[in-house]
Amino acid sequence: MSAAPLRQRPAWAALETHHRELQGRHLRELFAEDPGRGERLTAEAVGVFLDYSKNRVTDATMRLLLRLAVESDLRERIDAMFRGEKINVSEQRAVLHVALRAPRGATVLVDGRNVVPDVHAVLDKMSGFADQVRAGAWTGHTGKRIRSVINIGIGGSDLGPVMAYEALKHYSDRSLRFRFVSNVDGTDFAEAVQGLDPAETLFIVSSKTFTTLETMTNAHTARDWLLAGLQGAESAIAQHFVAVSTNAKAVAGFGIDPANMFGFWDWVGGRYSMDSAIGLSTMLAIGPTHFREMLDGFHQMDEHFRTAPFDRNLPVLLGLLAIWYTDFFGAQTVAVLPYEQYLKRFPAYLQQLTMESNGKRVTLDGTPVDYVTGPIYWGEPGTNGQHSFYQLIHQGTRLIPCDFLAFGHSLNPLGRHHDLLLANVFAQTEALAFGKTAEQVKAEGTPEWLVPHRVFEGNRPSNTLLLDRLTPAALGKLVALYEHSVFTQGTIWSIDSFDQWGVELGKVLAQRIVPELEDAAEPTLDHDSSTNSLIRRYRKLKGSA
Ligand code: F6P
Repeated sequence: MSAAPLRQRPAWAALETHHRELQGRHLRELFAEDPGRGERLTAEAVGVFLDYSKNRVTDATMRLLLRLAVESDLRERIDAMFRGEKINVSEQRAVLHVALRAPRGATVLVDGRNVVPDVHAVLDKMSGFADQVRAGAWTGHTGKRIRSVINIGIGGSDLGPVMAYEALKHYSDRSLRFRFVSNVDGTDFAEAVQGLDPAETLFIVSSKTFTTLETMTNAHTARDWLLAGLQGAESAIAQHFVAVSTNAKAVAGFGIDPANMFGFWDWVGGRYSMDSAIGLSTMLAIGPTHFREMLDGFHQMDEHFRTAPFDRNLPVLLGLLAIWYTDFFGAQTVAVLPYEQYLKRFPAYLQQLTMESNGKRVTLDGTPVDYVTGPIYWGEPGTNGQHSFYQLIHQGTRLIPCDFLAFGHSLNPLGRHHDLLLANVFAQTEALAFGKTAEQVKAEGTPEWLVPHRVFEGNRPSNTLLLDRLTPAALGKLVALYEHSVFTQGTIWSIDSFDQWGVELGKVLAQRIVPELEDAAEPTLDHDSSTNSLIRRYRKLKGSA
């Protein structure tokens, strides 16, 4: 039995009423009335501590949100995902990124077949390859060892690998250089190969479909660059190109030896694939052992999500709080603010995960939604952001719920740096929640005219996530935490979080425009007047010296 439309679920109406009562309340009052909330409104699992007490919620809010989760069949939906049901309805696919990190010996069925042995066969093949490259046993065409690895991919075939490389650089083999090419803008490729010796360079062409315009264009340019550098030796391709894909035929068509292809499956969405073979560059950087530690971190969070009661379930709590602000407070965004320099690409990674997943306007059965879905996720590492956009979060007119991410230990303990960093995390959440009243500002001797400028309204909500240190396992836990928070949100909105039809139209139109830009003869254009005139102007610019 499927859940009633969202607005007809009893908890939704109760939350609307409750929101009217709570929206005028300040976090200052909520903490004053209930000093224990700082300890109580927290949850901890698998080494991840969440303090959600600085949110505009009470115990009653949480009860209602949890009831909404139950009325939205969240439990049934989680079980359906783990059972391999085709919950990606618009593409008729199972959604089983959780199988990518299932331990050897586990059973996850897709159409009655256990896919876990397949997952581990690929992981073993990746490990063998990574060991060879890292040991210098895999050499290039001229016999030189591989020193540079370039991942060519885009979207999920790029953002995860880039983010994980940056996040886990501390654990990486520094004698290998890693670069990433994604954009069809030739500058991306040109800069990535700057100063590299083709004889020492390995390309990983990562593409689930092996048809993506950007990736195939870059892969062909890479092929030309390599062959030019190695005096046209076609036979060099085998040692300098490997592929990660679900499309063996297209890989072979490109000229990559199928033996050098690392596969995955249609039940892995691009934005959920960094722990599949798409993570080959990550494994080359940090080695198979660390990669498996990362998978174990993912798996620990998966098990927590699958089994923990909702009121102590970290992804559920995070997802429900996002619903609370998006649908009841009208917040348009969520800021993710890692106080860990190695996580500098984490917000960018989360943008695809969250927005390609939940940027949807119809429900699973195709009915237009009558509520707001997917918030905009964004962010930058702290403390840098504090000297940039935090002004707007503190004193602007918008409500921006924030997730602060911090670690108990630095991977680079230097003097007082880490205490200073963490002092800023705690200070920011405190300032956002409690602000500074006009009375407090006046008491400091501020002239009357300046007081309004210096008041901090406060009542700005935040979560704080605290972990011990950024290990491969910790990264896996964090990514899985957000994956399942996205799932929780998508379930409540009754949308398909696993398709991405919204990227199609632009791709198709671009294919139509390409010949209109490239044809020598003036094309007959039948777009709108703006597009026609932009195309004509570009053709003129292109023709001019
Ligand atoms: O932008 C759409 C998309 O399909 C993403 O979902 C995906 O991660 C990306 O393109 C890359 O696709 P592929 O791995 O097939 O090249």
